[in-house]
Amino acid sequence: MRTDVAQPVRLADYRPPDYLIDTVVLDVLLHDTETRVRAKLSIRPNPAGRAGAPLVLDGDELTAKKILLDGQDISPETIFVAPDQLTLASPPRQPFVLEIETEINPSANTKLMGLYRSGPVYCTQCEAEGFRRITYFLDRPDVLSVYTTRIEAAVSEAPILLSNGNKIDAGPIDGTDRHFAVWHDPFPKPSYLFALVGGDLGSIHDEFTTVSGRKVALGIYVEHGKEKSAVYAMDALKRSMAWDETAFGREYDLDMFNIVAVSSFNMGAMENKGLNVFNDKYVLALPETATDTDYANIEAVIAHEYFHNWTGNRITCRDWFQLCLKEGLTVFRDHEFSADQRSRAVRRIADVRTLRAAQFPEDAGPLAHNVRPDTYLEINNFYTATIYEKGSEIIRMLKVLIGETAFRAGMDLYFDRYDGTAATIENFISCFAEVSHRDLTQFSRWYHQAGTPLVEAQTSYDAAKQTFTLDLKQSCKPTPGQDHKEPFVIPIELGLVAADGAPIALQTGTEDGASADELARGVLELSTPERRVTFCDVATPPVASLLRGFSAPVRLSQSVNENELIALVAHDSDSFNRWQAAQTYATRLLLRSVDLVRSGGKPCEDEAFGEALYRAIESNIGDPAFAAQVISLPSEADMAREIGENVDPDAIHVAKQALRAALGRQLAPILLQTYERLAPEGAYSPDAAAAGRRALRTACLDLYAAGVPDEGGALAQRQFETAQTMTDEIAALGILTHVPGERREQALDTFYQRHSSEPLVIDKWFILQATIPEKGTLARVKKLMEHPAFSLTNPNRVRSLIGAFASGNQTQFNAADGSGYHFLAEIVIGLDRTNPQVAARLLAAFKSWRALESKRSALAEAALRRVAQVNDLSADVKDIAGRSLA
Ligand code: BES
Ligand code: ZN
Repeated sequence: MRTDVAQPVRLADYRPPDYLIDTVVLDVLLHDTETRVRAKLSIRPNPAGRAGAPLVLDGDELTAKKILLDGQDISPETIFVAPDQLTLASPPRQPFVLEIETEINPSANTKLMGLYRSGPVYCTQCEAEGFRRITYFLDRPDVLSVYTTRIEAAVSEAPILLSNGNKIDAGPIDGTDRHFAVWHDPFPKPSYLFALVGGDLGSIHDEFTTVSGRKVALGIYVEHGKEKSAVYAMDALKRSMAWDETAFGREYDLDMFNIVAVSSFNMGAMENKGLNVFNDKYVLALPETATDTDYANIEAVIAHEYFHNWTGNRITCRDWFQLCLKEGLTVFRDHEFSADQRSRAVRRIADVRTLRAAQFPEDAGPLAHNVRPDTYLEINNFYTATIYEKGSEIIRMLKVLIGETAFRAGMDLYFDRYDGTAATIENFISCFAEVSHRDLTQFSRWYHQAGTPLVEAQTSYDAAKQTFTLDLKQSCKPTPGQDHKEPFVIPIELGLVAADGAPIALQTGTEDGASADELARGVLELSTPERRVTFCDVATPPVASLLRGFSAPVRLSQSVNENELIALVAHDSDSFNRWQAAQTYATRLLLRSVDLVRSGGKPCEDEAFGEALYRAIESNIGDPAFAAQVISLPSEADMAREIGENVDPDAIHVAKQALRAALGRQLAPILLQTYERLAPEGAYSPDAAAAGRRALRTACLDLYAAGVPDEGGALAQRQFETAQTMTDEIAALGILTHVPGERREQALDTFYQRHSSEPLVIDKWFILQATIPEKGTLARVKKLMEHPAFSLTNPNRVRSLIGAFASGNQTQFNAADGSGYHFLAEIVIGLDRTNPQVAARLLAAFKSWRALESKRSALAEAALRRVAQVNDLSADVKDIAGRSLA
């Protein structure tokens, strides 16, 4: 246990390590409670470090059994050993070998960091600081070493033994029931990329031939009996490997690439060199157990972890402040991959929905931080939507600003120049500045200033002069520790659309002009607080389609009226903005309704919006996935974010339900007709086209059931009974679950009976129940915690029941009596003792508490204080509670 008070780590204090560790030879004797780890470290003073400094190795809950320096015992006066540190007061000035034997207890490791057991399987998770729970080490990403790992275990318990790199030896240990395997990874890597797995696992195997003709053996290891469920993941892996060669010129570099799926995992997946470890949720899929969204997620996560091989592993981070260097960039790469594999427009909409749902609230609340933070208390709490999603958006903007060719040249230069090193954001940006001959200093503010900028756009048309003037203004509210913001560089992709939908060529004169390059690419750069651009030769009053493709992670407030929005829904050549126009329209309607409801009135009605959606369904028959996005209204959380202060989740819920019901009634015939037209035909395929049909069908049924509950409910019941895929089954059950009564309980029971042997499906059952927007839900959640299928030690179960309640149930988590807050606080306090990382992530559900109306925000604050007061909190939970309250 680390007992001292945590000190913040500061980027400004970065110093290169005083020692380097060139090679690591590990010998791990697996045992469920007494695993022995012998580490032989070849260490030398770092020429860039302080000569003669003590050697301070990190540890965490370690027990040292034996320590030798160059084969000799060490005199007790010069060595200090504690569970969290090993110090050599005056190590040799020449290279030396330190041998350390530690004993660890994987079965007692409930934090799931370091070496732990996921069911019967031994596995490791070392990012960010888990390796120090295995052996004493310079556990920091700028210490790169070549690892050779020998693993030994009982054959019966662990016939499969895996580690990083290539397998170089294996065999029985004569005269015993044990065996061993030796793995060697020739690529120097930081300790956080170390991995080891031992267990009795099933597997599937394949082969990939790289562009230069090297053969790579691929393996995916899963629980016995689940092999068929890994086939899609294998397919996604091969597509990822091929894509990285064509899109980024990146080839795989080892003879083997293995993936192991485990059921207990704090995160989604981990990119350990040559041995990715995955939460089984992102590997296992069959049509009858996984939804189309699950398939898309598997594809994206497999790609993400694979892409880290170049962005993260070959080039790693100098320190954890540079986390977005690997995570933001790799998210950008997996987004591009998914866009190429599926529909670019639909992927963009989905990615922006995620950004707005997860990152915008972070940026608007007490947990706001820079994409490149400059201080942290607990690094585990910085694997955030800001680092990941906003980090990815910055790279996307860079590409928009410098163009595709320069972007690719910059990436090539980065790979070339920094391969094998631990790099910084500055290193990365310098490559793009160099190839594009641009000064990217101001652009880099995106890394150093938190908060979501607001862009306000005013337009005016002068019929006499045939000019159209666009006035842009940027601003950004203060965030914790940053009262004043300097202007950002905001790329605004735009087009002018005539009333009949025709695009209008972009031209400007000398006054308020745009550069030829801006006009040619249809991108204005807003880098000052205000900018005016006057377009000329505009014969009819146009509508400005701004921020096409969501070209920057900003909030846009634009002076367009309802008719203009409807014109954009119908005509904008940019599909993202066609979708956005419908969302903006719905948002305005909902905002008006929320106000009416709060002042005791009825939600407003508006036929024109329904008519626009009608036309959108009709005109997008050929692109059902897109049509599904257009008719999916903003979520209740989206509305809460729009409102921004004095939020009343109940009023939002009433307004949203009323709009859904009104649209469902108005559009009933076309919804029903589309639902029937899109009935499943032929063999199942998980591809984007087939998934798009199912998505629109589901969206139609959902809206139909909201408008015409009796018929809609009956249809959902029929779909629930006859569904051939999990996508259809869970969609129907979701609709049934939102109607109180016996039919709901019956359906939930049936679903449980059908799928009780599939934990990942039972997670969906938990999620559905946790998100019922009714008063009784908290009691239901508490009762489900007693259910034999629930367990507080499995992170997926915790996230499905408690996480879904806290983050996916606006009205009940935010119940006016504070019961939801109190419940979450108690859970977090309890869970903190066993799994602080998961506890801290749950607690982050309070991130928007200040935006709530006063009664609720007082109750939320009290719950947060209750957590903050507890003695012996983990650094993880203490950090989130502290910052949330600051
Ligand atoms: N490197 C991370 C996994 C990780 C996160 C390890 C936090 C330790 C602490 C991995 O590459 C990752 O980003 N995984 C994501 C999924 C991904 C598709 C965005 C995750 O686990 O959520
Ligand atoms: Zn990642």
